Amino acid sequence: MDSRVLLEVRDLHTQIVTRRGVVKAVNGVSLTLHEGEVLGLVGESGSGKTMTALSILRVLPYAGRTTSGQVFYRGRDLLKMRISDLRRIRGKEISMVMQNASSALDPVMRIGAQVVEAITAHDTSSRRDAERQAVQTLGDMGLPDPERMMRQYPYQLSGGMAQRVVLAMAVALRPSVLIADEPTSGLDVTLQAEILSRLQQLQQESRTAVLLITHDIGVVSVMAQRVAVIYAGSIVEEGEVRHVLDYPLHPYTWSLLRAVPRIDNSDQRLEPIKGMPPDLTSLPDQCPFLPRCPKAVTVCRLDSRPSLDRVDMDGHRAACYNPVRHDQRLA
Ligand SMILES: Nc1ncnc2c1ncn2[C@@H]1O[C@H](COP(=O)(O)OP(=O)(O)O)[C@@H](O)[C@H]1O
Ligand SMILES: [Mg+2]
Repeated sequence: MDSRVLLEVRDLHTQIVTRRGVVKAVNGVSLTLHEGEVLGLVGESGSGKTMTALSILRVLPYAGRTTSGQVFYRGRDLLKMRISDLRRIRGKEISMVMQNASSALDPVMRIGAQVVEAITAHDTSSRRDAERQAVQTLGDMGLPDPERMMRQYPYQLSGGMAQRVVLAMAVALRPSVLIADEPTSGLDVTLQAEILSRLQQLQQESRTAVLLITHDIGVVSVMAQRVAVIYAGSIVEEGEVRHVLDYPLHPYTWSLLRAVPRIDNSDQRLEPIKGMPPDLTSLPDQCPFLPRCPKAVTVCRLDSRPSLDRVDMDGHRAACYNPVRHDQRLA
């Protein structure tokens, strides 16, 4: 794998002002995406995955604000860049598939016109070339009869087809980075597998680096080489997918893996994670997982939140004072 860093998020903090108070949605997220790799960002609903993605491209909702941190893309901080410069990067070099993106397709515009527009917004190619490219990309995403689809309207498509259309729009210009927020959530398993394999094929051909956001560890294990686990808006563990899933260090990751069924472990007993996710309007100074942690020790109660420290030679890291030991394999 090429190890050149393409996108680096450093200590990102994002808040959302609500009537209930200030929601600390992102609390010091750091991520590194290398050229050509797929990095999974996994965590439960509400853990700050979407807010992290929206912060990176500065497309937060009105009440949201990034208060500190850096997002380097090829050495330039996107958070400091002029918006006009950032617009040239968005969609062309870094593209994003938003969560529930297919519902954002324009209902009164034909599919072809929408895909062509996504291409010509950044590309100087002629309309005819853009149309050819659109048909090609729709076909690449496994859509049957793409020429006919170009003339259809969004309501004529199934959910799975619409999702492929938005993915096609995102990859049409062969971006260096694709941020895909739950690209297959809500689709049935067979369709999900089909779409993921198309995405994987495109990713490998064009060497696009992907930040794949999902609550589904199964998706991560199929698609990603590395994974970052997010809890209460911070990364609690990061490493090679096989290391993290087979030998999780953080008790949260360990609990998360025990809460989902695994095909390779038929006699596994599922155990939901005890307790409630933290209230992001009043986070304690300590580790956010402390109230639910089965392995908490005195230092966890006394000290402030542990940092994401390097634990072994392969860069497997966990933000934990008392990580799960490697000899305690997952039962
Ligand atoms: N538009 C919004 N207004 C207020 N709070 C929000 C909004 N969007 C998200 N949040 C809150 O921010 C936190 C992180 O949300 P999000 O990033 O969407 O989580 P995820 O994508 O991991 O499910 C959650 O507590 C969520 O309730
Ligand atoms: Mg989300």
